[in-house]
Amino acid sequence: MMNMHLSESTMNILRNRPLFRENLGRSGAGVWYAGDDLVIKTNAPGTLKRAYDMHSFLFPSGLSPEALHYESGETDVLILRRLEGESAVSKTHLSDPERLSHALGNEAFRLHAVSAENCPKYYLTNEWNERFSAKSFDELEFDPSYSSFLGITEKDQAYEIAKNGIAHLSQDTVLHGDMCLPNFMLNDFRFTGFIDLGEGGIGDRHYDLFWAMWSMNYNLKTNKWSEAFLSAYGREKTDMEKIRVFASLVSLGI
Ligand SMILES: Nc1ncnc2c1ncn2[C@@H]1O[C@H](COP(=O)(O)OP(=O)(O)O)[C@@H](O)[C@H]1O
Ligand SMILES: [Mg+2]
Repeated sequence: MMNMHLSESTMNILRNRPLFRENLGRSGAGVWYAGDDLVIKTNAPGTLKRAYDMHSFLFPSGLSPEALHYESGETDVLILRRLEGESAVSKTHLSDPERLSHALGNEAFRLHAVSAENCPKYYLTNEWNERFSAKSFDELEFDPSYSSFLGITEKDQAYEIAKNGIAHLSQDTVLHGDMCLPNFMLNDFRFTGFIDLGEGGIGDRHYDLFWAMWSMNYNLKTNKWSEAFLSAYGREKTDMEKIRVFASLVSLGI
């Protein structure tokens, strides 16, 4: 099943739980269910530390599963409590997009309302600025599949929007960092937690809003639920121009 060496402390937590491979993971990580109550994730050395820190930070607010163990060796190993239910891309959940958009909007709002004061110090806005300023226009590769749903179809256009907008992004909000439907878990539409927090940190709320909208557009094959999502989140807190800045940055590979 799992052809890698697990340390004694990992084995002590897993005990004799049978392992089942999870097939939905897309990031190159290995994900296994251990018995019916635990999940074990493995990936390259160092890559799961941020996820462990962010899970440990958000679990007490009821926003993510408890992280039981992290270790780094030949590979990284992260053990999480298994959440009830299924991800938002299950058949049940995709069959009622309106209810799903409301749930995601409400929980994104709740996540962004967490005080950043004690959040692990991963500063995403600094990371975006560093990556953007490290490359010239010609070095950037443009992929319109991240921005065309917002009408941004040309590289020049994306570059202008990104260049003019990046200086106005804030760095004050706790972010999920990969807010897409497969990372949003529900039990028959009742939220059970956000997973996959390895790109979380402190940044501008519109980053998560952009990814949620992109993911709804991608998985539901229409953009018509974005409105429902944004009104559940709170229209007064959202700025479409900043969402367009992230569509541009992401389409340029930042
Ligand atoms: N704590 C958990 N509880 C329940 N299911 C989980 C949990 N963690 C992961 N999963 C399942 O495994 C899938 C992949 O896990 P994820 O951490 O998102 O990996 P990846 O980085 O490959 O996207 C999720 O979409 C979800 O179905
Ligand atoms: Mg995931």
